[in-house]
Amino acid sequence: MTTVKTGIAAELIPIYIMGKRYLVPEALTIMKAIEYAGYQFIRGCGCRGGVCGACSTVFRREGDYKIYSGLACQTVVEPNMHLAQIPFYPALRRPYDYAAAVADGAIVAQLYPEVFRCVACNACTKICPMDVQVMDYIGALKRGDLALAASISFDCIQCGLCASRCMAEIPQYHVAQLARRLYGGKLAPRAEHLAAMVGRISSGAYRALLGELKTMSAKQLREVYTGRQMEPAMTDESWRPDENVGL
Ligand code: SF4
Ligand code: SF4
Ligand code: FES
Repeated sequence: MTTVKTGIAAELIPIYIMGKRYLVPEALTIMKAIEYAGYQFIRGCGCRGGVCGACSTVFRREGDYKIYSGLACQTVVEPNMHLAQIPFYPALRRPYDYAAAVADGAIVAQLYPEVFRCVACNACTKICPMDVQVMDYIGALKRGDLALAASISFDCIQCGLCASRCMAEIPQYHVAQLARRLYGGKLAPRAEHLAAMVGRISSGAYRALLGELKTMSAKQLREVYTGRQMEPAMTDESWRPDENVGL
C-alpha cells in the first residue's frame, strides 16, 4: 500500500478518478475525496446522506477483476481504487394514466414487456448499492405479484445502476416504482388508525392543547416534551399510547 504521511491527522492514499491519480486523505468518503481532488459536484450529488440515489459510483480494486459499486457519499476510499461516477443512467420510463390503471400484473406486461426477457443472471442484484434483491422483484413482477415486488424493492433509491448491467435492457427501478405506486395507492390495506387520527385533528380535538402549548415558556415546553408518554424501550407491536393522552 502506498501511503504518504501528512504529519497531521490522516494519511494520504492514492486513488484514481476517471483514470487520473490523486492523493487523498484515507478516511474520506469517495464524494469528499473527489472534492478534495479539486472536482466540484454540480450534478451527481444530492442528499449526501445515502437516500437520494444521485451519487452512484462504480470502481475496481487493484488486481481484482470484479466491478464494485457504492454511493459516493457513503463509501470510504480505499488505496488504489479506480472509480468513476454514474450519476444518471438512461432508462425508459413509460407514461400511464394512474387513475385509470388497474393494479394487477397486466399493466406491467403492457408497459414493460421486456421484463419477460430477464435471463436471471442476477447482475442487477450484485451491483445494487442498497442490497435490493433486484432479480427477485423482477421475478415477482413477471408473476404479476405487485405486493411482493413493492416489498422487495422498498429500499430502492432509483440510482439506476441495475439498469446499467442488464443484458435484457430492463429499466428495473422504473418497473419497481410502478409496482410500489400501484400497490401503495390501490392495493395496500388502508390505515384505519391514520384515518381516525386525521378525523380527530380535523374535528378540532387538539385545538385547545395547541393553544395551551403556544402560551408556554421554553422551560415549560421542554418539561412537557421530556415528560410525554413514550414507547417503552422493550415492547412489542401491541403497545399503544393512551387514547386521550394530553399535557
Ligand atoms: S434496485 Fe437498481 S435503482 Fe434501485 S437502488 Fe438498487 S441498483 Fe439502484
Ligand atoms: S440484470 Fe436483467 S437479465 Fe439479469 S437478472 Fe437482472 S433483470 Fe434479469
Ligand atoms: S448524495 Fe444522495 S445518496 Fe449520495
